[in-house]
Amino acid sequence: MRQKLIAANWKMNKTLEEVNDFLHNFNYAEASNISDVKVLICPPHVYLFHLSEFYRDKGIAVGAQNVSAYISGAYTGEISASMLKSLSIKFCITGHSERRKYFGEEDKLLSEKINILLYNDIIPIYCCGELIEERKQGKHFEVVKTQIKNALFHLTPSQISNLVIAYEPVWAIGTGVNATPEEAQEMHAYIRKIIDNSFGSEISQKMLILYGGSCNSSNSKELFSCPDVDGGLVGGASLQSDEFLNIIKTA
Ligand code: PGA
Repeated sequence: MRQKLIAANWKMNKTLEEVNDFLHNFNYAEASNISDVKVLICPPHVYLFHLSEFYRDKGIAVGAQNVSAYISGAYTGEISASMLKSLSIKFCITGHSERRKYFGEEDKLLSEKINILLYNDIIPIYCCGELIEERKQGKHFEVVKTQIKNALFHLTPSQISNLVIAYEPVWAIGTGVNATPEEAQEMHAYIRKIIDNSFGSEISQKMLILYGGSCNSSNSKELFSCPDVDGGLVGGASLQSDEFLNIIKTA
């Protein structure tokens, strides 16, 4: 059985004071004690050190929201994978639709980021998902397959075993309209099949495939009950400590 992963994606939210309020209020002891559920928080870069120190040996993992595709050197404003590694960061979101849309990140660059993360023993959470027009035109399977193929198919079986996929339909992100459990299950099973066809069933059966897009404590139980949904990448609803804990409990 796959362990569920519930990941908070804070995006560009929270001042230091608000971060400290969350750390104070979030019942990490309860969250980390729920069996078969791993909890991950991905804050903005500036708080990574703070959170990774705070949660050291407390059963909550800390992840980054982005990484540079460069190794090191004169790249003003960038954060390298080896820097993340030196803070004991174990996960990094890549390919989020907001990075694709606002920062022009394409599959080729994302494949380079994935390589550098894996080289530094950081698990990429690779996001994929279609636009609403693509779903209306019946192209959603093709779009997701292409995103996976372009960014992941060059990996070796042992590399892809250290990767998490997040299916995040773009139309569901921050809109309050989540995919139905049927829609999520259908796409997650399809993604697992893609991995199965290229890397074999041992790898596909172990791979965690998260759902993201307007996930909250009212819909998470049904979504996480789907056989191929292994947890969630939660944006807005992860900002409130009580709500995030409630989502974790439904897993
Ligand atoms: P949302 O965001 O939960 O606010 O829809 C999810 C995400 O973008 O990862």
